[in-house]
Amino acid sequence: MTSLGDLPIRDELKGLTPYGAPQLAVAVRLNTNENSYPLPEPVAAALAGALSDVLRNLNRYPDRDALALRHDLAAYLGHGLAAANTWAANGSNEVQQQLLQAFGGPGRTALGFTPSYSMHPLLCVGTGTAWIAARRGVDFDLTPGEAVAQVREHDPDLVFLCSPNNPTGTALAPDVVRAVLREARGMVIVDEAYAEFARPGTPSALDLLPEHHRLVVTRTMSKAFAFAGGRVGYLAAHPAVVEAVQLVRLPYHLSALTQAAARAALAHAPALLSTVDAIKTQRDRIVAELRTFGLTVAESDANFVLFGRFDDQAAVWRALLDRGVLVRDVGLAGWLRVTAGTSAEIDAFLAAMKEVL
Ligand SMILES: Cc1ncc(COP(=O)(O)O)c(C=O)c1O
Repeated sequence: MTSLGDLPIRDELKGLTPYGAPQLAVAVRLNTNENSYPLPEPVAAALAGALSDVLRNLNRYPDRDALALRHDLAAYLGHGLAAANTWAANGSNEVQQQLLQAFGGPGRTALGFTPSYSMHPLLCVGTGTAWIAARRGVDFDLTPGEAVAQVREHDPDLVFLCSPNNPTGTALAPDVVRAVLREARGMVIVDEAYAEFARPGTPSALDLLPEHHRLVVTRTMSKAFAFAGGRVGYLAAHPAVVEAVQLVRLPYHLSALTQAAARAALAHAPALLSTVDAIKTQRDRIVAELRTFGLTVAESDANFVLFGRFDDQAAVWRALLDRGVLVRDVGLAGWLRVTAGTSAEIDAFLAAMKEVL
């Protein structure tokens, strides 16, 4: 029998295991920062109607450029953006992969400030881009000075900034984004997957797009829009960036079903986004309550919270799972991450934590 080790796989893939959080059938799943609320019935009905309209035309390829969807995404983002400033794909992971295919690749480098979203280095592996793990400071913060010094030292072709940052939860100070944009020679990608959950007064890098043609802001419908299963992520940038990405995208990469479902979801944006406030309430409750347990808890602008410090976070993860609560061990020694779910889910999580501690 042939095993993976026998195949002439690329050297940099040898010994790797596929990325992915455990998908376990437990009562309380708080490990992948999904939105715990199912789609409201009227929205689900609107999606079903939109999908049934396209079913008869599945004999044809979809709109290669997803123009109508990109128009709707631009309207949602505002900031004077048009369809030509946006691009969509199967999740923001695919958008970022396309950016690396266009602007990274063999002989090029991408830099990110760790700990951050672990898919950024993995997308680099897949695209043959060399990854540079720059550092955050104590308490995972990042000052403009520290960020600029590391960009200057490594002079990367791409910089990934993540705001709010996964897994720490805190948004970047706007000065950091501005300082990196001034210093960086190459593309600057600001991953704003969790932007809708940010605390009041947190600006978006979308504000900076008119002045910076090498800035790309990536967003997703997987989190605030409760559309993780639909797989739609998107970017906002100068139209020339969109043209560059179109050079590497597969033809017809976004199915007609996905495009129609995403447009129907966007038409019901207020109904879908109505869960955001309830999720933020649970997030703030987790932060406050875990602190009363004597734990260290990072400030969060996202729909999740990083908490610690444990001598053995894997043992705490296991003990929570034994109580029917699945959280995430992100591989950061001493820390665990929990998604802000419904109030009933957070009741269960906090009760389990009390027992475990
Ligand atoms: C920071 C960050 N960016 C991007 C994504 C990917 O989202 P998707 O591919 O579902 O759009 C995630 C998912 O957890 C994330 O945490």
